[in-house]
Amino acid sequence: MRTGQALPLRDDLAGRRAYGAPMPDAPVRLNVNENPYSPSPALARAVADAVAAVAGTLNRYPDRDAAALRDDLAAYLGHGLTRPQVWAANGSNEIIQQLLQAFGGPGRTALGFEPSYSMHPLIAQATGTRWVPAARDDGFGLDPDRAAAVVGEVRPDVVFLTSPNNPTGTALPPGVVEAVCDAAPGMVVVDEAYAEFARDPGATALNLLPRYERLVIVRTMSKAFALAGARVGYLAGSPGVVQALQIVRLPYHLSALTQAVARVALEHAGELLATVAVLSAERDDLVGWLRGRGLAVADSDANFVLFGRFTDRHAVWQGLLDRGVLIREIGPPGWLRVSVGTPAEMAAFRSALDEVLAA
Ligand SMILES: Cc1ncc(COP(=O)(O)O)c(C=O)c1O
Repeated sequence: MRTGQALPLRDDLAGRRAYGAPMPDAPVRLNVNENPYSPSPALARAVADAVAAVAGTLNRYPDRDAAALRDDLAAYLGHGLTRPQVWAANGSNEIIQQLLQAFGGPGRTALGFEPSYSMHPLIAQATGTRWVPAARDDGFGLDPDRAAAVVGEVRPDVVFLTSPNNPTGTALPPGVVEAVCDAAPGMVVVDEAYAEFARDPGATALNLLPRYERLVIVRTMSKAFALAGARVGYLAGSPGVVQALQIVRLPYHLSALTQAVARVALEHAGELLATVAVLSAERDDLVGWLRGRGLAVADSDANFVLFGRFTDRHAVWQGLLDRGVLIREIGPPGWLRVSVGTPAEMAAFRSALDEVLAA
């Protein structure tokens, strides 16, 4: 029976709205950093076959430790990693949530260098972790000494470093991760959702794992692997980190269907990752084109580009949407973010932006 009383929502959540990018209908969708290339018919068939093979066992719970998938992910990552150092969940957002459930929480603090991925503070809040924002340098980089000094001063339980960073696209030099690991009293989480698009993919923080027990690298299959719809994220860290996450994860969190689909995608890694070179080249063309228009553009090592600065960025965003092109109104004031799409989508974006700038 309804009593007219307010729901007893936690005080710290009162007044909060559900997070998510606006999703108005548009023929060209360049707003959430998806990979624009859908699976080939052969891959779609392989996925369907794998799902059909699992379908007959759906009366049973899945492997709650996703052992086979973790073996495959470890093999993909290389660096001598094995199953005990790899964990998987429903998107890297769930990995981040599990990390904060295990290492953050009430009475604990997480710190990130902004502008950065907005889900880090939101998941911190949802897990009762106090969020401390620190600033990136001009140009959206991060100086190792300054980063280490901030971490040494705040002494957070969890530090987030995002490289390449969202929404700026900028990659961190490995020296920053090293300096922060040396200064941090707690966990250091390097969110490498866009690692495959980096100009120097060899500069991954995975290189530092043997040296730092409290370092965690978070990855996703949503971007380079073009698998956003399947929801697969994963991490590499020490076996102790994986054991800690197994305490907080829900039993059977990763469905048998998800595990099977992710394994098929990993089997077809060559085909899927071929889109990375295409998108990276398209990104570099886009950066050059935008700079040629006299716009400011952040250096991008990702599959998106942050550009500006507009006195009324909303008007530019709306002008593009009116012309059928949806991008993201996000980042520091005056900036907009566009995901890299197919050549046809980028042509539509360019001609729409030319019209908007001329108007
Ligand atoms: C930096 C960063 N981390 C994590 C994610 C989450 O990705 P997913 O949950 O799809 O793995 C995103 C998505 O845009 C992102 O930009």
